[in-house]
Amino acid sequence: SSLSRFLPNPKSVAAKLGVDQGAMHLVEAGLPQQLTELGWKVQFDGHLQFEDIWTEIDPPIGNLKNPRSVSRVCEHVSKVVGEHAKNGQLPLTLGGDHSLAMGSISGTLEEYPDACVVWVDAHADINTAETTDSGNIHGMPLSFLLGIGAKVEEFSWVKPLLQPHLLVYIGLRDVDAGERRILREHGIKAFSMHDVDKYGIGPVVEMALDHVNPGRKRPIHMSFDVDGLDPSVTPSTGTPVHGGLTFREGRYICEAIYETGCLVALDIVEINPALVDDQAAKKTVEVGCALVRSALGETLL
Ligand code: ARG
Ligand code: MN
Ligand code: MN
Ligand code: MN
Repeated sequence: SSLSRFLPNPKSVAAKLGVDQGAMHLVEAGLPQQLTELGWKVQFDGHLQFEDIWTEIDPPIGNLKNPRSVSRVCEHVSKVVGEHAKNGQLPLTLGGDHSLAMGSISGTLEEYPDACVVWVDAHADINTAETTDSGNIHGMPLSFLLGIGAKVEEFSWVKPLLQPHLLVYIGLRDVDAGERRILREHGIKAFSMHDVDKYGIGPVVEMALDHVNPGRKRPIHMSFDVDGLDPSVTPSTGTPVHGGLTFREGRYICEAIYETGCLVALDIVEINPALVDDQAAKKTVEVGCALVRSALGETLL
């Protein structure tokens, strides 16, 4: 048994407000109790709003939006995740925006320097300060973690501890031109929706793990963006892209990662209940809870 921790991200890390509320919806839907029923000892730290961290006056650096607030929140996330990992607990970080992964993964890598990252997403989230068109930091966390691109002083606390061969993607289908170049240049392995169609989800997860974790001995940090799933499954998200993973494919990924016994940290991000009607929001939250339960052992008999 172990512990889970819930940590949302702040307001408007991307241009759309409301993503900070996603985490609390998962908790209110009963996720802590559901995990307790699975046999986990759940430590819920509460909803951290970071109101004291968030700064109203936070002009862009280059075109990066809300850089100081995002940086400070993520640094805080890295400390708490690192502490929980050190205690042998499994940190579960609920978002919130995907920028928070630069905090959660930094925390994981402090305790497990040899950890690999499985990134489930429609997007590559690997833009640099030079390549980002949107300036949304949720599209950039991996470049900071890998130490790719021009250094941004504000994010100098992020240690480039992640190696390109220890990162693998599943579900990609909306990758910017600059991101394609980065993936190619650094030899980063990605399984797109094309690969899922071609090989099926079982072989894709197997190949992904063979790449980052051939002996199944390495600790795994899974960072799961709910927009990796099809918008018909998870409509309440800021940057939906058609042609995504089915509900079962999403759960399968989580089950297979759990089955390795190597999972040490999990993020579920980009649930934004404010973006659609209540029915769609409820559905997205339920799917989010199901993904977490699968990653923590529910659906394997
Ligand atoms: N590639 C686009 C950008 O950099 C979209 C990123 C979407 N990322 C996310 N976490 N929702 O702005
Ligand atoms: Mn976002
Ligand atoms: Mn995404
Ligand atoms: Mn993402």
